[in-house]
Amino acid sequence: MTNVEVKLNNPYSVVIGSDVLETLGERVRSVTKARKALIVTDSNVSALYLEGAKSSLRSAGFEVFDFVFEAGEKSKTPATYFDIINCLGENGFKRTDAVVALGGGVVGDIAGFAAATYMRGIDVIQVPTTLLAMIDSSVGGKTGVDLPFGKNLLGAFWQPKAVIADISTLETLPEREWKTGIGEGIKYACLVGGRILEILLDGVENNIEEFVQLCVEYKASVVVADEKEGGLRKLLNLGHTVGHAIEKQSDFEIPHGVAVARGVAIMAKAAYACGELGGNERDVILSLLTKYGIELPCESSDMAEGRNMSEAFAMDKKAEGNGDISAVVIRGLGKCEVSKMTIKQFVEYISKV
Ligand SMILES: NC(=O)c1ccc[n+]([C@@H]2O[C@H](COP(=O)([O-])OP(=O)(O)OC[C@H]3O[C@@H](n4cnc5c(N)ncnc54)[C@H](O)[C@@H]3O)[C@@H](O)[C@H]2O)c1
Repeated sequence: MTNVEVKLNNPYSVVIGSDVLETLGERVRSVTKARKALIVTDSNVSALYLEGAKSSLRSAGFEVFDFVFEAGEKSKTPATYFDIINCLGENGFKRTDAVVALGGGVVGDIAGFAAATYMRGIDVIQVPTTLLAMIDSSVGGKTGVDLPFGKNLLGAFWQPKAVIADISTLETLPEREWKTGIGEGIKYACLVGGRILEILLDGVENNIEEFVQLCVEYKASVVVADEKEGGLRKLLNLGHTVGHAIEKQSDFEIPHGVAVARGVAIMAKAAYACGELGGNERDVILSLLTKYGIELPCESSDMAEGRNMSEAFAMDKKAEGNGDISAVVIRGLGKCEVSKMTIKQFVEYISKV
């Protein structure tokens, strides 16, 4: 078992290990004074882990409630968010009570946002059950829901009281969801290089706990340096501008992390085409997508669409008020930089591949 500290003003721990869910109740008890706990989860995760989580929380003295919504990005809406808020209100939750987000990134984002706003903010404990949520979304306090105009447009920064990542829950994760977690992992391999890259090249299944730990350590260091994404944290958006557009254009059929990995591949190809990235490093990045069965973006599909993505880029909340984009460009493995571009320049940049 590993503990990573996120050393913000209100610090919290990310606990990573096998079977830590068995001790969920006492772990939650140690970070909140709550009397009531609302477990927010989705229809797939509830079938697997809800009863265990409830009984562990009850044993630790909580009055436990649950809110289950239909699994998938399509539920990440203001309507689901309001349903959770109503559930908290109807069950008499007070300012001192807590939300437990049990599931993937969709659950974490929506439950985190409900906790951030109910009575101006109540405790939330993130219990990620997907690889993506463990290495990325559960840490750092970004919460929110999608609007018809784009992803995550309604949200808040709200740090959890703790993150409890039980890697044994990954055993039930479907293949498609592994891929999406790996997609975000490929992003970290480009940002950090080193051991994260080594583990991915070797086969992540051989070193999953260390992989989660290293990704969380990196994310925590960036979040601590730049909690509200004023500068450095923008690095974590590598692959996301194109990724979000790919995701949206597929009507969310292409999962988030897979879209991000394809966005990373496009950025790697573009950097190579501009002479900013060596051919070997570009090939290492592309080989990671192939190794994990993520389809490579190709000229005929993604890029043809890419040229028509200006509108999607403009709506992306990563675009600045003046329409500029903070593009994350790859200068080498472990050497990425934020570069300001207009949307026109960005479209030209990615059209070079
Ligand atoms: N807040 C952030 O910083 C941040 C960062 C990255 C991504 N995100 C968001 O995260 C979301 C994607 O997260 P995700 O990929 O975890 O998707 P998800 O939450 O939809 O989970 C994917 C699927 O896996 C199922 N599932 C979850 N855990 C399982 C388990 N252990 N066993 C079997 N099935 C399981 C879920 O029911 C769902 O069907 C997106 O909405 C994205 O915007 C947020």
